[in-house]
Amino acid sequence: MTRSENVSPTAYATGHMWYRLGLADAALSTVRGRVLDRAFSTLALPIKLTTGVAFDDLMQARHQGIDAQLDAAIAAGRVTQVIELAAGLSPRGWRFRQRYGHDLRYVETDLLHMVAEKRRLLARAGRAPAAQDLCVVDVLDPDASSSLARVAADLDPTQGVAVITEGLMNYLSPAQADQVWRQIAASLKRFPAGVYLSDFYLRGENSGVLMALFSAVLQRFVRGRMHVHFETLEEARDSLQSKGFATVQIHAPGNLPSLADLGRRPGARRVRILEAWTGL
Ligand SMILES: C[S@@+](CC[C@H](N)C(=O)[O-])C[C@H]1O[C@@H](n2cnc3c(N)ncnc32)[C@H](O)[C@@H]1O
Repeated sequence: MTRSENVSPTAYATGHMWYRLGLADAALSTVRGRVLDRAFSTLALPIKLTTGVAFDDLMQARHQGIDAQLDAAIAAGRVTQVIELAAGLSPRGWRFRQRYGHDLRYVETDLLHMVAEKRRLLARAGRAPAAQDLCVVDVLDPDASSSLARVAADLDPTQGVAVITEGLMNYLSPAQADQVWRQIAASLKRFPAGVYLSDFYLRGENSGVLMALFSAVLQRFVRGRMHVHFETLEEARDSLQSKGFATVQIHAPGNLPSLADLGRRPGARRVRILEAWTGL
């Protein structure tokens, strides 16, 4: 199993979690996911009891925050195509296809075995997308035949594109993350409008003994280090601009109108939503 594949079991946990939080129906929930989600929730309980930071609120804010900014980009007419990297068992692709029908092209990608598992689960629910809309991209292998650039090359070059990552970047080393952000910016620049949306964390907002303990357990589970890449907003903005993004906004969930209530909870204040546009 490669280092990347070690991360994949977490996708089973979130696949069930989105269902438990009411953000998905049962199609992408698995027994394995339910067991892992319960284990992570148990581990996160002492943090909630002692600091008020609920892991569920953080996860819900990140998922709905990305949804909100994607909806806004589509509503503004800037984006009609989406590539989600490391989509795991996330229901977003299915939800957005349902919501926008033929007005939106939504391509979900992940590693080979995860794509196969998602296709199997979706086919069982009678909703498997076309092969080209659920396909393999290894973000750490940009020269592969199944790279982000290749998937982007199949999109309509006259229409705007969103690229999404959720729950991926913190498993990558700083050098790997830099390479992925450069890849994303370079791919988006080929389109009249390009936006990158992701969950985002700052070291300054995620310190404390219990948080360190929780992340230590997660690191043991994925058998690798986790990285919070930036200390401050300024450092993050400068770095992303240097990778090729023209404008970089790092939203607090509480400042997004549709997340006002959820966004004020302590858990939701630990995560940010990155919205970075290329060009024009
Ligand atoms: C924590 S899960 C997040 C899944 C989904 N985005 C969500 O939020 O529910 C991390 C995902 O990253 C994927 N992944 C890990 N390494 C990857 C790589 N090198 N290229 C593409 N995907 C990768 C895993 O297979 C897994 O599905």
